[in-house]
Amino acid sequence: MSTLAEMLSRRFGDGGPAAEGTEDNELMRRVLQRRTVRRYSDKAPSEALLDLLVACALSASAKSDFQQVSILRLRDAKKRDAIGALFPAMPWIANAPAFFVFLGDARRLHQIGQLRGKAVANGTLEGFFNASIDAALAMQTMILCAESSGLGVCPISVIRNEADRVAEILQLPDLVFPVAGLCLGYPAAAGFVSLRLPRSVTTHTDRYDDSTLAAAIDDYDRRRNAIHAIPKAQQRSNDEFGEAAFYGWSEDKARQAVKAEGATFAPYLRKQGFSFD
Ligand SMILES: Cc1cc2nc3c(=O)[nH]c(=O)nc-3n(C[C@H](O)[C@H](O)[C@H](O)COP(=O)(O)O)c2cc1C
Repeated sequence: MSTLAEMLSRRFGDGGPAAEGTEDNELMRRVLQRRTVRRYSDKAPSEALLDLLVACALSASAKSDFQQVSILRLRDAKKRDAIGALFPAMPWIANAPAFFVFLGDARRLHQIGQLRGKAVANGTLEGFFNASIDAALAMQTMILCAESSGLGVCPISVIRNEADRVAEILQLPDLVFPVAGLCLGYPAAAGFVSLRLPRSVTTHTDRYDDSTLAAAIDDYDRRRNAIHAIPKAQQRSNDEFGEAAFYGWSEDKARQAVKAEGATFAPYLRKQGFSFD
C-alpha cells in the first residue's frame, strides 16, 4: 500500500510538504487518491446504500442551519434520457446506474417564513450563495462517502447550461435551481489520479502572493504533460487558435475559458425569483 508521502507526490509532484510525522489516516488516503469516474459496470448500487448516501450528504454542514439543499434522485428513465439527450458529448449522464441532482433551495426558507407569518427575503445574492454552498457541500459529502463504499462518481455541472430545460423536466419551482448532477456507479476501470496545481500556487500564508505563477504554471504543464499528455486530436478550437506544438493544461484551460459557459444561467435565475440584491 502506498504511503501518504507517495500519494502526495502522485497528487502534486511539487516537492511540497510530505506529511512527515503524521499518523496514517484512511480517509485522507482515499481523498488523496480520489478520481472522477465516468464509466460504470452494470452492477447497480443497492437502494439501501443510495438512501444511506443521501443521509450522509444531508449531514454536511449548512450555513446558519438554514439547510438550503434539496437532493433529487432521478429514477424516471424518460426524464433521464431527456436530460442526457441535451448533452450528447456526456453519455454517462444517461448511462450511470444512479443519478442525483443537487439543488440549491432558497424556496424552503420563504415557505417557512410564510408558515410563521414572517416576510423572508431570500432571493438575494447572499440567499443564492448560501443555497449554492449548502448544495456543493452536500454533494461533496456524498462523493466522499460514495467513493469510500467503492462507488465512482462524476459531478455534472453542465446541466446548468440548459437550466431552463432541466428545470422544466424536473418541475423546479421558483428559488430552486440545479447546482450539479451526480452520476454514481461501480467503476468499470481504475481511472487515474489527476495531478493538481503545485501547492505553491494554490496556498498562501498570511498574504496573497502569486508572483511566481508564470514559472510555476510552465513547470506544472510540463510535469502534467509527461504523465498525461493531451492528444493532438483533443486540442480545442484549432480553427481559432491554430494547432499548438506544445499543448499543456494551461493552454487547454485558457482556450476552454475563452468561450464562457452559462450565459443562460443568470437570466434563468432571475426568472426563478432571484433579484441578487
Ligand atoms: C462542480 C463540478 C462540476 C463538474 N461538472 C462536470 C461535468 O459537467 N461533466 C463531466 O464530465 N465532469 C464534470 N466534473 C468533473 C471534473 O471534470 C473533474 O473533477 C476534474 O477534471 C478533475 O478530475 P478528478 O476529479 O478526477 O481529479 C465536474 C466537477 C465538479 C467539481
